[in-house]
Amino acid sequence: MKIGIIGSGKLGSTLARLCVGQGHVVAIANTRGPNSLPELSRELGGRARAATVTEVAIGGDVIILALPFGPYRKLPVEPFRRKLVIDATNYDPARDGSIPELDADRTTSTELIAQHLEGARVVKAFNTMPYETLASGGRVGALHDQRLALPLAGDDREAKHAVAELIEQLGFAAVDNGSLAPGGRLQQPGSSGAR
Ligand SMILES: NC(=O)c1ccc[n+]([C@@H]2O[C@H](COP(=O)([O-])OP(=O)(O)OC[C@H]3O[C@@H](n4cnc5c(N)ncnc54)[C@H](OP(=O)(O)O)[C@@H]3O)[C@@H](O)[C@H]2O)c1
Repeated sequence: MKIGIIGSGKLGSTLARLCVGQGHVVAIANTRGPNSLPELSRELGGRARAATVTEVAIGGDVIILALPFGPYRKLPVEPFRRKLVIDATNYDPARDGSIPELDADRTTSTELIAQHLEGARVVKAFNTMPYETLASGGRVGALHDQRLALPLAGDDREAKHAVAELIEQLGFAAVDNGSLAPGGRLQQPGSSGAR
């Protein structure tokens, strides 16, 4: 599968390593541009390359958002249309600035992203586990009940199925939290489901 990752920091680079490890081809973007990742590109060899956000979105079968939530409105809409987008971001008011709708729990951060990326099939996943655990906690080939759980939430059944398959392939147990509003809420830091 061609996997695009927006964000090459702690989470993005961890996911890039895991995906390449399972034979996927990865394109990864950040704010500094395609020439900023010589070490990661070298480490991951021919199966990973740095690219612009637009190239990553156009070229990916699946695109993982692994950037801070704050700049989500800067993501271009058109390249993501009809794409399967995994939102791994978390809203952090200290980092992202305060967003009243989220502070008042009138919606969820992933629903805001889905509204912005009109036409994309958005699934929330990979946002609940610290990157260090993600890097070392996968147990490929282990029985389901011996794996760490990774929840996912979304409104598109087919898209969720594909994301669950990816989670399982990386050695974790996919747990379906239901649709985006209630399920995504459960996966938010500080929510009743996250406590
Ligand atoms: N770290 C974790 O364990 C963890 C776990 C679950 C979820 N998350 C969530 O995952 C997201 C990333 O966290 P992180 O810890 O990986 O952060 P990080 O290490 O600070 O990396 C953030 C990355 O996003 C890129 N970026 C920022 N704005 C961008 C934009 N407008 N377009 C493209 N790329 C942009 C940055 O580019 P530059 O490199 O050019 O600055 C950087 O590569 C956050 O929403 C966080 O809440 C993190």
